[in-house]
Amino acid sequence: MSYSTPKGVFDILPTEEKPENKWKESHRWDYLFEQLKELSKAYGFEEISTPIFEKSELFSRSIGKETDIVNKEMYTFEDKGGRSLSLRPEGTAPVMRAFIEKQMAQASYCHKLFYTGPMFRYERQQAGRYRQFYQFGAEIVGLPSPQLDVELIDFVYTLFQRLGLQNLTIHINSIGNKECRAAYRKALVEYLTPHKNSLSEDSQSRLEKNPLRILDSKSPADQKITANAPILTDYLEESSKQHFEEVKKWLRILKIPFVVSDKLVRGLDYYNRTVFEVVSGDLGAHNTIAAGGRYDYLLKDLNGPDLPAVGFAVGLERILQAMDTQKCSFPHKPVPLLLMIPLGEPATQVCFQLLKELRLHNIPSEVDYSEKKLKNIMRYADKKSIPYVMIVGEEELEEENLKLKHMSTGETEPVKLDQLILTMKNKLHDAKLS
Ligand code: HAM
Repeated sequence: MSYSTPKGVFDILPTEEKPENKWKESHRWDYLFEQLKELSKAYGFEEISTPIFEKSELFSRSIGKETDIVNKEMYTFEDKGGRSLSLRPEGTAPVMRAFIEKQMAQASYCHKLFYTGPMFRYERQQAGRYRQFYQFGAEIVGLPSPQLDVELIDFVYTLFQRLGLQNLTIHINSIGNKECRAAYRKALVEYLTPHKNSLSEDSQSRLEKNPLRILDSKSPADQKITANAPILTDYLEESSKQHFEEVKKWLRILKIPFVVSDKLVRGLDYYNRTVFEVVSGDLGAHNTIAAGGRYDYLLKDLNGPDLPAVGFAVGLERILQAMDTQKCSFPHKPVPLLLMIPLGEPATQVCFQLLKELRLHNIPSEVDYSEKKLKNIMRYADKKSIPYVMIVGEEELEEENLKLKHMSTGETEPVKLDQLILTMKNKLHDAKLS
């Protein structure tokens, strides 16, 4: 039997031969993580990590029993103690669970947390949709200020600018508070009921359980019907209306382009007021790269303190795929700076000790132990783009004089044995600057 990955998951590898799979290369992920972490620091976020499984009730209570995620997509299992556990389908609920459990509210009046890691949803396999996928998420707990909603949208906007991503649209909407959403829901059901038979099968079943989700149905028949549906923002109560106006004002102050999308409602139940999504024009059907919003009731609903919160998550596969499509640049794959090729046991001993010393100085280096023909080793070094190669034989050892070959020019530079570390340190420094 030959083994392969289960459906909907993928490996992240040092090298992917197929050009369309370059987004799976590990150095690209490293680069993205570095950018995300650097930006998190600049925006004042601290890292939090939670387990990849939690008690199942946490997700049904927060994301909502009638949502697709909880209804159809969770990896839920019973452990040997008979407890129902689920692989996390998202990060917000676990982070809020930790926040409440560890009484983090006591430390300050505003908390900025970020996390990265795999999430799990049993979704139909399609491009851009995976059963294990990676999110970076950021959450701010403690204040209702609209500026914080905008800080988060600005984080995403700045991230995408730094990565060189274009062709993105920021969609925003406000879904108000629980009361005005209930009034809107009633109006929407009244409007949709006479059209029930013309709605798609999915939307027909949502009509009673989760009618707001019909608004972002992809079915053309549904879209035709919802085109004239009542508009959510017309039902906002005064304070939500004002909050939404403020969000738009602060976005304009930062000159962040956005579109108000009155049918944007999001697929998780915990949101209120601001919701937003960033959509790429280059990804086909599953084109939302980032999404989030306010969730001022969630902490209280999870039996925590009554504190407002706002957050977002980005899908890392989708970012890397969009970067690929748009040919955004990535730093070069890290390679050793120096490859030493010893000829014989005494030379191997010297190179082996030099190797340890080079590495102590963080100079990426390797010794070739293959005993292959020199021609083959040089070809390998060339293919790997290793900049410096050093063949060490008896003569070099006797004279304590090494010969450093510059692979790009073919020139050889003499280096005293006791000067190698310093020489390579300088070369590393120059390589970083170039
Ligand atoms: P979400 O919209 O469910 O929100 O997911 C956020 C992002 O994760 C999506 O926009 C997409 O890029 C990515 N994503 C979701 N499902 C998949 C999948 N099956 N395959 C690949 N990528 C996927 C949340 O998860 C909320 N927790 C966001 C949030 C944080 N709201 C407030 N704070």
